[in-house]
Amino acid sequence: MPALPTSPAVEVATEVSPELVDAFARLIPQLSTSSPPPSSAELAQLLGSEAATVFVARGPDGSITGTLTLVTFRIPTGLRAWIEDVVVDAEARGQGAGPALTVAAIEHARSVGATTIDLTSRPSREAANRLYQRLGFKARTTNVYRYDLKAE
Ligand SMILES: CC(C)(COP(=O)(O)OP(=O)(O)OC[C@H]1O[C@@H](n2cnc3c(N)ncnc32)[C@H](O)[C@@H]1OP(=O)(O)O)[C@@H](O)C(=O)NCCC(=O)NCCS
Repeated sequence: MPALPTSPAVEVATEVSPELVDAFARLIPQLSTSSPPPSSAELAQLLGSEAATVFVARGPDGSITGTLTLVTFRIPTGLRAWIEDVVVDAEARGQGAGPALTVAAIEHARSVGATTIDLTSRPSREAANRLYQRLGFKARTTNVYRYDLKAE
């Protein structure tokens, strides 16, 4: 009997290993052409941050196939959470790593008492928009603004 498909393994990254640095070097260019992948020192700062939790998904051979960063922070109206920098290696897409990472982030946000989880996704990211809606994220009517400090 063929094996039933299982959800990819997801774990929280806790140390800056060469494997993790290499994974970000491979994955970030598949998410953004304008942002370089984090250096080892930047990854150390990220993993050391109390606000951030970095999740990684692993494929059947144990290699890192995707990542997602959850940020939680308290503001006057509650403990909020944001999902950022979700990306799955093009070679590993369509195998459930994206949903597995997102579900892990939702569970973590719930476990620390966050009341909401926000994220943004450009309409052109069709697979991502379908994924978030499938998992229960609802589009909000709001204006999204950005002040670009690099452009000053
Ligand atoms: C969005 C993304 C994270 C989804 O991850 P994933 O692990 O592929 O998620 P799933 O396994 O649920 O598959 C998502 C869709 O891709 C389809 N798919 C299947 N094989 C695929 C392949 N080889 N390549 C691309 N998509 C594929 C799936 O059928 C599924 O389609 P559906 O939305 O119609 O159901 C991933 O596509 C990605 O990294 N995209 C580029 C970066 C990005 O857009 N990030 C989100 C930023 S907000």
